[in-house]
Amino acid sequence: MRWTFGLTCATALVGIVPSSQAADSSVYHDAETGFTFSQYNAQYAIGRTIAFRIALPSPIPANSAYDAVIQVVAPVDVGWTGLAWGGTMVYNPLSVSWANGNSAVVSSRYATGHATPTTYSGATYELFKTGTHVNRTHWQYTAKCSGCTSFTSSGGRSTILNSKGANSLAFAYSGTRPSNPSSNTSSFVVHDVTGYWNHDFSTAGNTAFTSLVAANI
Ligand code: HEM
Ligand SMILES: *[C@@H]1O[C@H](CO)[C@@H](O)[C@H](O)[C@H]1NC(C)=O
Ligand SMILES: *[C@@H]1O[C@H](CO)[C@@H](O)[C@H](O)[C@H]1NC(C)=O
Repeated sequence: MRWTFGLTCATALVGIVPSSQAADSSVYHDAETGFTFSQYNAQYAIGRTIAFRIALPSPIPANSAYDAVIQVVAPVDVGWTGLAWGGTMVYNPLSVSWANGNSAVVSSRYATGHATPTTYSGATYELFKTGTHVNRTHWQYTAKCSGCTSFTSSGGRSTILNSKGANSLAFAYSGTRPSNPSSNTSSFVVHDVTGYWNHDFSTAGNTAFTSLVAANI
């Protein structure tokens, strides 16, 4: 039995290693905004998830920076949540967000250590009117980000996320709301949960990206 199991694993590994990382995301078409997103449902508690959705322009020329539309759908018990575009807390753009009345706030942050991230001018957001709202069970926002998919990472390395494959992303969740939710520079307390996944950007392309942005803004 053990021998058979070992062989099976080795065979599987040979098949897996040369290809790119398997993605944990799936395709989601949002009827409200019209964007096709690649989405991942991040579990922060048993049976409870936050949806992280990414839509991209298509085509994207090789080796050039590109915008992204991000949509986050969170249950109302989520005090704040963050998306780390480089897959770690440090040295990458952090899209931190929370509910604010009938709307939501997205705050541009960056951390160089495991302490409260500072504001980050390298990424800017345009919050959409469509796709940003709060109801009794959820809050959600949709925004265009310029500067989320390319950044200077640890050691001063210039990074552009792979628009044709999977990227390692990370999230953080806190059950505690920021101290001043109407301000995108509010402070907030440390997360209760963090997690990682591989997000397929190759399925996030929207040929009508520019007109969809204009229609939702
Ligand atoms: C008040 C703000 C924050 C504080 C004080 C804080 C602090 C920390 C600390 C101490 C760790 C290490 C935990 C350990 O090693 O067990 C950690 C890890 C982590 N944090 Fe934060 N954090 C904050 C905000 C954020 C935000 C906004 C994100 C956005 C996604 C984030 C993402 C992560 C991730 C993914 C990890 C796992 C380890 C890593 O990737 O570096 N954190 N944080
Ligand atoms: C906060 O919002 C203002 C106005 O839209 C913007 O200029 C600024 O970059 C934002 N700051 C953060 C930290 O997101
Ligand atoms: C509340 O909003 C969420 C997402 O923002 C949506 O999935 C859900 O259907 C909405 N609930 C109602 C009753 O409209």
